[in-house]
Amino acid sequence: MSRLSVEGGFRLEGTVRAAGAKNAILPIMAACLMLEGDTVLQNIPYLNDVSIMLRMLNALGVRAEYRKNEEIHVVNTRKIRHIAPYDLVTSMRASFFVAGPILARAGFAKVPLPGGCLIGARPVDIHLKGFEALGATISMEHGFVQIEAKALKGSEFRLDFPSVGATENLMMAACLAEGTSIIHNVAREPEIDDLGQFLQAGGAKISGLGTSTLTIVGVESLTGINPYPVIADRIEVGTLLIAGAITNGDVTVKGAIAAHIKPLLTLLAQAGAEVETGADYIRVKGNGRLKAVDFETEPFPGFPTDMQAQMMALLTVSEGKSVVKECIFENRFMHVRELMRMGAKITLEDQMAVVEGVENLSGAEVKITDLRAGASLILAGLVAQGRTTVYGLKHLTRGYYDLPGKLRSLGAKIIE
Ligand code: UD1
Repeated sequence: MSRLSVEGGFRLEGTVRAAGAKNAILPIMAACLMLEGDTVLQNIPYLNDVSIMLRMLNALGVRAEYRKNEEIHVVNTRKIRHIAPYDLVTSMRASFFVAGPILARAGFAKVPLPGGCLIGARPVDIHLKGFEALGATISMEHGFVQIEAKALKGSEFRLDFPSVGATENLMMAACLAEGTSIIHNVAREPEIDDLGQFLQAGGAKISGLGTSTLTIVGVESLTGINPYPVIADRIEVGTLLIAGAITNGDVTVKGAIAAHIKPLLTLLAQAGAEVETGADYIRVKGNGRLKAVDFETEPFPGFPTDMQAQMMALLTVSEGKSVVKECIFENRFMHVRELMRMGAKITLEDQMAVVEGVENLSGAEVKITDLRAGASLILAGLVAQGRTTVYGLKHLTRGYYDLPGKLRSLGAKIIE
């Protein structure tokens, strides 16, 4: 199994640049199925999830190619295919994003039930109810969801929960529906705004981005966009800032947008770190041993579930008792067991973890169970006494581009 080793005890200091946001790139790539002509996406790290989506686009009849200067070039001039390949969709949940665009372009989409990190049941019922509200009929056959609508019709409906993926899928589908759609209780994550702005640049008529209600007036077609730079990855930014805080260091991340990770910055400040923000940078300085803080995960603008594991790593060595509630996914505490191998004191009760900060963690052999758990274990390794060997890097490279390299550039001792 692929692994890396972290020597703990080195203070991280310096400046790094944020990469483009995985969670914006994936739906934007899916949206390329709907844009006729040429599109160039910029600020794209070569992540494993990105390579899966590239394969998906090519399998569906669109020519998509990764270029060296962090760009993706897409040529969409032919009729697209309507069956999403099983192996691609089941290896990454985000490939379900192609359902909306295929349906809108081809009138019929056949997509397997998705896969991805095993952090919860993660059904797609909210996506499907939305497609039905737009006039589609849904059936299941041999593990494939079949969604059919000769012509999607705009309508007004409400999501049962502000699901990020459902909001994106339905927003895309509604762009090519006949008439107006008004979707209530949508998610408001910055990556949704980015997708919305991308679609607007291609001719979509969307209003209400950043609010809980989207109004979308359907258009006949959308055109390619050249170039479109994707926003910075707030989760990578947050992870690097915690690396600064946990090592009592001084880390600046350039290209970061503070408004996108406000709850994390507030918590870090509450814990005693020094936080400084500018138009396009965030700097976090450790300040001796940090203090315990409580938090719970929520849809944006609340604390992101994708930062829970990394924040927990920090709390394992902070002074006092912290309470962490996971309110988005029901199985997102798999890092807890591994952190405990390193000497963390954590008790779990349903969706709540109580973390009692210890003076020191000790290096151990640990296993990555999902993407953000991987980052959490590496962060813990940065302060553990001795060597931490982290196994299962395939989960990490799904969503972080060269995290070990970025941490090394700040002074971490990581051997791959
Ligand atoms: C996206 C992000 C992921 C992040 C999550 C929550 C991408 C590629 N992934 O995932 O990194 O952790 O948002 O911020 O953008 N749910 C249902 N039925 C549905 C859809 C969702 O019950 O039809 C539930 C899920 O099981 C989960 C919760 O709603 O418990 C949130 O899921 P959702 O917001 O849809 O997350 P994803 O879009 O999968």
